Amino acid sequence: TPTERIGIHTPRCADSYAELRALNMVSRVSCREADGVAVPRNFGELALKTLKRSNLYLQELKVTHRDDTIVIPVTNVEKAIAILRSQHIPCRHLRMCFPSKTTLRHATLRDFLRDKVPQKDLERIPRSFYIVGDIALISLDIELAERYGHLIAEAIMKLHPRIRAVYARGETVGIERVRRLIFLGGEPHTRTIHRESGINIVVDIAHAYYNPALATEHERVASIIATTPGAKILDAFTGVGPFALHIAKRSWCYVVACDINIYALKLLRESIRLNKLRGHIEALNVDSFKLLESLDRAGILFDYIIMNMPHQAIEALCHALNAVRSRGLIFVYTIAHSDDEALSQVKNKTLECRGIAFRVVEVRRVLDYAPRKYIYRLTLERT
Ligand SMILES: C[S@@+](CC[C@H](N)C(=O)[O-])C[C@H]1O[C@@H](n2cnc3c(N)ncnc32)[C@H](O)[C@@H]1O
Repeated sequence: TPTERIGIHTPRCADSYAELRALNMVSRVSCREADGVAVPRNFGELALKTLKRSNLYLQELKVTHRDDTIVIPVTNVEKAIAILRSQHIPCRHLRMCFPSKTTLRHATLRDFLRDKVPQKDLERIPRSFYIVGDIALISLDIELAERYGHLIAEAIMKLHPRIRAVYARGETVGIERVRRLIFLGGEPHTRTIHRESGINIVVDIAHAYYNPALATEHERVASIIATTPGAKILDAFTGVGPFALHIAKRSWCYVVACDINIYALKLLRESIRLNKLRGHIEALNVDSFKLLESLDRAGILFDYIIMNMPHQAIEALCHALNAVRSRGLIFVYTIAHSDDEALSQVKNKTLECRGIAFRVVEVRRVLDYAPRKYIYRLTLERT
């Protein structure tokens, strides 16, 4: 066939996406089957100029290069061949998938859904979504999830060919803060490996808390702690251990990482094996409220304590302040409407801690939580 002669792989258009990508012929683009003319590369510029002048170049598709040949998509192949031959340009007919000029890099989820979802519903579908490993998580109303879930999943997987499963993400519930999920499409699986600043984190979105939007925060806290080599750190509500992993990746240290969710710790232990860490992480399945109380009573001191359980962590603040050395830091998270409210939550709680001197080093808004409600981190220094 002409295709074989010219040495260009011409996959079926509908299934060509992954194949084209695998062949490295195009990157992240959609494609459309069309007639083209193949010409030797040294005639390429002249051929394209001639076809453009005659209005025969099919403008919305891209010219494709392959070895010593270029293939130009055309609106009328017979006319195109006749004109090129009249100019003594060697050419032959080829029907193949041409990359579309709208690359997926610029396309949006809504672009993919526009002809399938009525406008009023389209506007309720979020423009963005989270990616955790090879899983996408999108915030959707149940009604939208039921009606358009499969279309949304299909569109996301077209936009991001690495994604293999798509879920609607609900709220995090219960003491273990595990997220409610609705499967929308792809290959159903909830366990994956997510890469966060060069660290491989084993995650199971159905069984343990993990939020990729906290990546910068994990890094920020780790970079503060890394200034103290050999530090002893308590990550009291570690989940799958992103703080602990970031810290141990950066510096030689000893991290005690605790969680009540035994499955989260199992995932953390897998991540510890997967990554080359400088520090040592001890993963402990304990109730951190009780642990902090015991540390306080026993007078055991840490250099840093991370308390990332925004709903409740403040409750254990007095014990934490007694379990951190002088000049040591506590990173405590809370939910509030404003900086002032976050600060007064901490101040009110610490009124109960008798004889503990500390100062607030930083109040930082970390994440949106609900309309006009945010997750804050307060950094406290024991003085
Ligand atoms: C918001 S998540 C934080 C996870 C982690 N720090 C991160 O950044 O991804 C809170 C974690 O606290 C754990 N947790 C809740 N109550 C606990 C307790 N009493 N003792 C230890 N861990 C607890 C939950 O299982 C959950 O994994």
